[in-house]
Amino acid sequence: MHASTSTTATSTQAVHAGEARFRAHHSLTVPVVQTAVYTFADTAELVNYTEERFFWSEPEREEYGRYGNPTVRALEAKLAALEGAQDAIAVSSGMAAVTGTLLLLLQPGQHFILTDNCYHSTLEFSQGFLKRYGIGCTLVPMGDYAALEAAIRPETRLIFSESPTNPFMRCLDLPRLVEIAKQYNLLTVVDATFATPYNLRPLQYGVDLVIHSLTKYLSGHNDVMAGAVVGRYDLTTPLRQMQGLFGNLVAPQTAYLILRGAKTLALRVERQNASGLAIAQFLETHPKVRRVWYPLLPSHPDHVVAEATLRGGGGVVSFEIDGDMEQAHRFIDALRIPTIGPSLGGVETMVSPLAVMGYAAVPPEERLALGIRDELVRLCVGIEETADLIADLAQALDRI
Ligand SMILES: Cc1ncc(COP(=O)(O)O)c(C=O)c1O
Repeated sequence: MHASTSTTATSTQAVHAGEARFRAHHSLTVPVVQTAVYTFADTAELVNYTEERFFWSEPEREEYGRYGNPTVRALEAKLAALEGAQDAIAVSSGMAAVTGTLLLLLQPGQHFILTDNCYHSTLEFSQGFLKRYGIGCTLVPMGDYAALEAAIRPETRLIFSESPTNPFMRCLDLPRLVEIAKQYNLLTVVDATFATPYNLRPLQYGVDLVIHSLTKYLSGHNDVMAGAVVGRYDLTTPLRQMQGLFGNLVAPQTAYLILRGAKTLALRVERQNASGLAIAQFLETHPKVRRVWYPLLPSHPDHVVAEATLRGGGGVVSFEIDGDMEQAHRFIDALRIPTIGPSLGGVETMVSPLAVMGYAAVPPEERLALGIRDELVRLCVGIEETADLIADLAQALDRI
């Protein structure tokens, strides 16, 4: 059962939330405010100026494009409503959201815990880049809460995890995570890109910050890059101030496209949930498929947690062809509907042979240790007809 306590359904919020304040000229849609500069009529307008006013999520007016833009503010208000949060900050990509959050919350000498099986760039940044600032990271196996607790040190400040994870859809036991974090006074940050606010709202469980790559389901059309950090004012306001310094912005045109894409979030994700499950069930019984990872399959290691927390399993299905890389590639090349590409969450179904896409630069032993075998395929289901996708998968499997 999805734990939503909101009285307004996600589908209604996706269409309407966040927009009303920003309807200039009686326009139904939020205008693209294409400006870098906001002007002042006279010096009297500046009299009560304090910098803080422009970093508040609902300022009376803007001053300069790096500190805020009305089209972007509308997007941020919609995202905050969808997550049931006080505030949201839109940034230039999902990775900008991940890196900005970790850089803000962690100081030299501090330490954080990252659950494994996460997006590879997040792992690279956490274990590699942050080292130069003297920030320690311990990787713990997803789902091992004893290991997670054992990894906590006096200097530990936060726990970072995806849920569901990329690419094996491991799911957090959110009540358990939050209980441990509270006991040790740690912050929790969850990258819920794979869930979307339609399937999961981590803040309702007491998580402190939620991260999204808006490039994926929230924009939904594979045409923009952006990210977001969503949560309480005491955490988001310093992030907004940091954004003013770092300048990792979303352009107004991009914000408009995400606002537009987000209106159909519920419709798209409902279809992706239904297709994802049907396709996972089809693949699991197919003799040429060795193993399938989908959170709502009883065979998935986090099936019980997924059933308890997710409204749907989403559109990503990872599976291993019962064969080698050559056979996996033959299958992929025989597909007619999905395009080969490295993303997910859009209306077009996309297929990624992960060993040579996303993990191509990772040494083979390291890649295998992460579970990315040569014959692993990540299928990211779009909104095409489910039966057409299954028929296409069946004919391509027959060609192996
Ligand atoms: C779970 C997750 N988080 C973050 C990112 C990074 O997002 P972006 O590509 O928008 O920087 C990705 C990208 O695939 C992802 O899968």
